[in-house]
Amino acid sequence: MPAAVILAAGLGTRMRSALPKVLHPLGGRPMLAHLLETAARLFDRIVVVTGPGMEEVARLAAPHAVALQQDRLGTGHAARMAAPLLAGYPGDVAILYGDNPLIGEETLRRLIAARSAAELVLLAMRPADPGRYGRVVTDEAGDVRRIVEWRDATEEERAIPLCNAGGLCAAADRLFGWLARLRPDNAAGEYYLTDVVALAVAEGLRCRAVEGPAEELAGINSRAELAAAEALLQRRWRQAALEGGATLIAPDTVHFSHDTQLAPDVLVEPHVVFGPGVRVESGALIRAFSHLEGCVVRAGAIVGPFARLRPGTVVGEGAHVGNFVEIKAATLGPGAKANHLTYLGDASIGAGSNIGAGTITCNYDGQAKHRTEIGAQAFIGSNTALVAPVRVGDGALVAAGSTITEDVPADALAIARGRQVIKPGRGARQRKGGATEAG
Ligand code: UD1
Ligand code: MG
Repeated sequence: MPAAVILAAGLGTRMRSALPKVLHPLGGRPMLAHLLETAARLFDRIVVVTGPGMEEVARLAAPHAVALQQDRLGTGHAARMAAPLLAGYPGDVAILYGDNPLIGEETLRRLIAARSAAELVLLAMRPADPGRYGRVVTDEAGDVRRIVEWRDATEEERAIPLCNAGGLCAAADRLFGWLARLRPDNAAGEYYLTDVVALAVAEGLRCRAVEGPAEELAGINSRAELAAAEALLQRRWRQAALEGGATLIAPDTVHFSHDTQLAPDVLVEPHVVFGPGVRVESGALIRAFSHLEGCVVRAGAIVGPFARLRPGTVVGEGAHVGNFVEIKAATLGPGAKANHLTYLGDASIGAGSNIGAGTITCNYDGQAKHRTEIGAQAFIGSNTALVAPVRVGDGALVAAGSTITEDVPADALAIARGRQVIKPGRGARQRKGGATEAG
């Protein structure tokens, strides 16, 4: 198996961002995570090249090795930084760009396999708009002679439709030999990785291009290109959800993450966002304008419209979560209901319990989070504040408007609110300019 070097040290100037380019989110995770996942299936060693101040990139790369490119002197210079970590590596090394997140496994396999026919192989594409990609110069036999960067290219060279997609592969010793010989004598004053082609050809070695789909190989250099890649992923995932047996009433308005799982016969209404880590079981209904992340919605449950399920939420079988309900790190048992205007955080609610409108679990005391535990078949009246830590037993009732600060035993009724007082005639007196006690 070959090794891979992933270049991720670039600042991504064209993104106009304080965040390193490869950390920009795509499909619910950092751009680089996509390529790392694909590469991990194909390469037995991976080295990620990061830049100074990019500890977050190094964390994301773990457990793979990381090489630091102190000065960003170009893609060839970045690739060179991996040399000490792969010294004496007996096989092939592929250099990949971290801003190429959508490269498919199949395309990478074709690149690796092509090495049987040439000493150096590279990924190429023919995008509808070749823009500022490097151009691949070939001879009559179709062998690659060199790559010319757009900035350095003549008008004639810019007219070449075959573009360098980024991604090349050669024997480790040869590749690091060429990298050591690169010179920054070009328009950008950078060490271009792409110049290894001319060095290989000058040695009389053969270089071939492996063409892949342009949409898969598009590099992400700007926010617009990031948005285009996101749109492509979303189209794929919507299609996969439909093929998997989910109904999406308005597919174009449903937003998925890389790991969204919808079982057959899930129905999703328009304008739903699935953040990372969501699993929805069969027959569940996700109603319009709901936002879900890090949660499980069990079979036959109904969520929304306008529900927010945050990480750690489990909505039990047949349970209902209605409008303007937010749930975090909480389990709603089978058949339980929280239908209106409620916050349930750090809580467990037993089977069949009813949570009235406006119920709030007061889970945070300013320092720490505390749990609320509600048993099965309990009834929590509207506008109840449950001051955690607190427990409400099975079958207990809580009167509307209560502020519950002590545990409620099973089957008991708890009332914790000011007692109502009636003062006959006081309203009328006040209107005439008398007592104003009512406020
Ligand atoms: C590069 C290619 C170009 C190709 C295009 C495909 C070169 C010189 N040019 O251009 O031929 O058509 O990709 O998308 O290789 N990086 C570093 N350190 C650096 C510079 C870059 O790690 O000093 C990393 C970046 O984080 C990025 C990758 O290398 O992930 C590519 O760099 P980028 O600046 O995006 O190159 P392009 O201009 O897109
Ligand atoms: Mg790029």
